[in-house]
Amino acid sequence: MSSDEDVAAASRHTLFIGKKENIIQARRVVKSVGERDVLVIYHQGDFYAIDVRCYHSGGPLQEGDIEDFDGRTCIVCPWHKYKITLAEGEGLYQAVDPSVKALKPTWCSKGIKQRVHTVTVSNEDVFLTLNDSPGPIDSDYYQTEKYRNTFLKE
Ligand code: FES
Repeated sequence: MSSDEDVAAASRHTLFIGKKENIIQARRVVKSVGERDVLVIYHQGDFYAIDVRCYHSGGPLQEGDIEDFDGRTCIVCPWHKYKITLAEGEGLYQAVDPSVKALKPTWCSKGIKQRVHTVTVSNEDVFLTLNDSPGPIDSDYYQTEKYRNTFLKE
């Protein structure tokens, strides 16, 4: 176990992930915390942390664009363009009400689909605290050893 992992275990999965200025410069950093791979993002003054593999089919969110939809900041999965709010991990989609004559799409939520985590900044250091709330959340599947063995090591 590395010293980083010791720190994580000792402080309930809180891990020092880097100096603030370095993460701001990098914009995106992927960190492995135990069995979980987390994408840490700096975007327009805020830090976010989210499971790196998309809840839909395991797409690499570290390669996704960041856009606002309905006033909410989302990462767009590069594989099938699913939109996931960075702050909550909600899956967003557009739908129309067929009973209304002028079909006008509105944004809807599928609920929380992607596990998000907490980023804190202390002085110039950035820390990641894993969200260990009981699951499952859909993205959890892609953090499992079964998924890694089946899809990532081929
Ligand atoms: Fe992300 Fe399909 S894998 S949208």
